[in-house]
Amino acid sequence: MSKLWGGRFTKGTNKLVEEYTASIGFDKALAEEDVQGSLAHVTMLGKCGILPQEDVETIKEGLQKVLEKLHAGEVEFSVSDEDIHMNIEKHLIQEIGPVGGKLHTGRSRNDQVATDMHLYLRNRVVELTDLLHGLQEALIEQAKDNVETILPGYTHLQRAQPILFAHHLLAYVSMFRRDAERLTDSYKRINVLPLGAGALAGTTFPIDRHFVAEQLGFDGVYENSLDAVSDRDFIVEFLANASLIMTHLSRLSEELVLWSSTEFSFVELDDAFCTGSSIMPQKKNPDVPELVRGKTGRVYGNLIGLLTVLKSLPLAYNKDMQEDKEGMFDTVATLTGALQLFAPMIATMKVNKGRMREAVNTDFSNATDIADFLVGKGLPFRQAHEVIGKTVLYCINEGKFLLDLTMDEFKQFSPLFDENIYAVLQPEAVVNARNVYGGTATVQVQAAIGRAEVSLLEAKKWVAEHAAKL
Ligand code: ARG
Repeated sequence: MSKLWGGRFTKGTNKLVEEYTASIGFDKALAEEDVQGSLAHVTMLGKCGILPQEDVETIKEGLQKVLEKLHAGEVEFSVSDEDIHMNIEKHLIQEIGPVGGKLHTGRSRNDQVATDMHLYLRNRVVELTDLLHGLQEALIEQAKDNVETILPGYTHLQRAQPILFAHHLLAYVSMFRRDAERLTDSYKRINVLPLGAGALAGTTFPIDRHFVAEQLGFDGVYENSLDAVSDRDFIVEFLANASLIMTHLSRLSEELVLWSSTEFSFVELDDAFCTGSSIMPQKKNPDVPELVRGKTGRVYGNLIGLLTVLKSLPLAYNKDMQEDKEGMFDTVATLTGALQLFAPMIATMKVNKGRMREAVNTDFSNATDIADFLVGKGLPFRQAHEVIGKTVLYCINEGKFLLDLTMDEFKQFSPLFDENIYAVLQPEAVVNARNVYGGTATVQVQAAIGRAEVSLLEAKKWVAEHAAKL
């Protein structure tokens, strides 16, 4: 069979052009969505009296057969049929004869491809939200095991103030919760039907777009036919959301790499999530977080790639837009892979509570609290800051930490010191003194875990309600 659009042409296509313009190599991933869209379209053509019902039935049976063959891996795709839409139509016609050619009545590949992309992405967004929930769950479980684990909190990667490890983990729970909310919110812009826009201007056939939308589980239809076929905002939005998720995963990855180094030894990743060195037998490398950190670049690249494709594109469809796919597929695969690994990696991570505690005992992360102690005695904070700065310098020169100082030594720096300072400087006291909403005090962290669990449970309901439409 020749090209589906061959009528106007007097020559065959140059082989290299055929290969260069074909998208079947990657858009075959949309096969399922393409058939689903066609089933809804042809049902509507029958309902609206555009095609006789018997043709509709024949086409539907043919499409079902193509779908079965697709599932069985029996459909061979051909580059000369350019893309998934024409490949499937070719197979349909092979299956049921020329009546298959009636399927494309009142539609264009431009609204067809957009429909496929919407169908594809809405399901991926639900799956990815589910994976984000799984990761939050793993982080919350680790947090529950570490409501008494104290480690230094850092600013500038310098020890700053002691915090609970649970508090640190909950910071990531907050990030991934926002990420999941962003995906959930984007769903309403993805779940809109472009079909019926035709090539760009609508169609002369008396179609019922709302009926198609209903069959495919879309919440609405595009308002404007030009926008319907030109819009790739929903993919840009997805790529932007994916980029931010990767940013968060990459920050956590960096911490895991640092924490699992011999220098820190705060955590140990399970053997099942690490790899060895081909030359150095002692090595256990945190390859998963390293690769997630590295793969963040390609996800950012996919976002910038699509923004650049769309920039300056005149309305409506342009072939440039075929470039929307590979970056999207690659991002879905990269993000899915990372999230699938992260949840069990966090769940099985061993936390070296002793090492974290030792770090806090041998630093000056309680210095703010002595300043606050003097402020409590009436000294202005700025003066207290100066006094403690000198005290710390003295300690450094003497090779001591604040808790090693005698009362006489403290008094050298301020007469306002008294015996209570030793209790104030204990890491537990330092942590529990931050008893503000959102702070690191144990009671606050326990309450935060409770809130995180409630909100996760709520968010999971959305996933259950939206799981795998079609
Ligand atoms: N393979 C094309 C794409 O992905 C489908 C739409 C083609 N439309 C056209 N008028 N050539 O963008």
